[in-house]
Amino acid sequence: MSLTTWIPRSGFGLGLFFANLFRDATDLVIPRPPDPSCQVPDWYSSAWLAREKARLESNHPFAEAVLMNLPKTLLGELGVYHHESVLTEEVMAYLQPETPSRWHKQQGGTFLDVTVGGGGHSLALLQRGAERVVGLDRDPTALEVAQARLAAAGIPQERIQLWHLNFADFDLQRHGFRDEQGQGIPFDGIVADLGVSSPQLDCPERGFSFRAEGPLDMRMDPTADQETAADWVNRRPVEDLIDIFVRYGEERFARRIAHHIERSRPLFTTTQLAHVIWQAVPPAARRGRIHPATRVFQALRIAVNRELEALETLLAQAPNWLKPGGRLAVISFHSLEDRLVKWAFRRDPRWQVLTPKPLCPSELEQQRNPRARSAKLRVAARSS
Ligand SMILES: C[S@@+](CC[C@H](N)C(=O)[O-])C[C@H]1O[C@@H](n2cnc3c(N)ncnc32)[C@H](O)[C@@H]1O
Repeated sequence: MSLTTWIPRSGFGLGLFFANLFRDATDLVIPRPPDPSCQVPDWYSSAWLAREKARLESNHPFAEAVLMNLPKTLLGELGVYHHESVLTEEVMAYLQPETPSRWHKQQGGTFLDVTVGGGGHSLALLQRGAERVVGLDRDPTALEVAQARLAAAGIPQERIQLWHLNFADFDLQRHGFRDEQGQGIPFDGIVADLGVSSPQLDCPERGFSFRAEGPLDMRMDPTADQETAADWVNRRPVEDLIDIFVRYGEERFARRIAHHIERSRPLFTTTQLAHVIWQAVPPAARRGRIHPATRVFQALRIAVNRELEALETLLAQAPNWLKPGGRLAVISFHSLEDRLVKWAFRRDPRWQVLTPKPLCPSELEQQRNPRARSAKLRVAARSS
């Protein structure tokens, strides 16, 4: 591939981003697939990645510039995967992995990371004295990355156990954390860092972002036999769409957008959907600080992954997974999640609240990692 064809391809996401910035003047032109059997494009196929990797490894003079334009998950596949963990110091201060376990009195406690992602919080727990971490994630790719990262950091295999699992389905006894009498062996602390990781968000093939063209998927677990965003958009009655846009997106123009989607069916790609939403909202709403598709995409993601149901289950079950005095730290990224955490901690007598107000990332962390801006941390201890 010549350099001229190479750069436009890798800069496609960036081009679309700038097109969005100048959307008042441009109104995006999105090609519609001619019929339902039309395939979504696959610029980011494994073959393409392998080719680009080979080029980069042969010290291409423009490698750095190209890497800067690539989504972060692809950087991962090229060997530089990165998810910046949020509020790590604050989580460590509350979970105190260096404190000897109250239960077995061995050095360091045993912790459950229910959203292991790139393994950042797990690694911090292990490096600061935790004896063992059990990590869960519903995304098998995240688990592979976490495993590689922990191994590269020199963590012995016996100190980490990873499960491909929705945390809502975790069960102490069923997953082998029981003593000889069959009693559950609970954890010293639990961390939940909710939502999606940067690599999930940045990979067009996962369909989470309206900024780059990809299939309307949005499943955190791509191996799961469950409805995708395309199923929701193309098959669900318009009333269901209005309902989730209102409940999970707090979207003012839910009705207009849902009807516009219904008239535009079938929709195949993220940018097609973004374009339909763009057309559906009044012109004044297109000039806001956030893209008009932001809330609808959030709503679809929450609905596809049943995120709030999973969080409710976690909050109800976590006291059973903790030793008396054991702590649960939850990082949430939007008000719907934070509200659930706040009320569960306040209403359930099994919790003792340790953060009357949520902790937010410092100015420095926000500058370093703009995606941390909306993060909120709440911590509670299991009452004795
Ligand atoms: C923000 S990332 C976690 C990043 C991680 N704490 C780190 O430091 O690298 C959220 C991760 O949680 C996973 N996840 C979200 N909901 C989940 C659920 N119900 N069960 C298991 N994993 C979930 C996502 O797949 C994603 O990998």
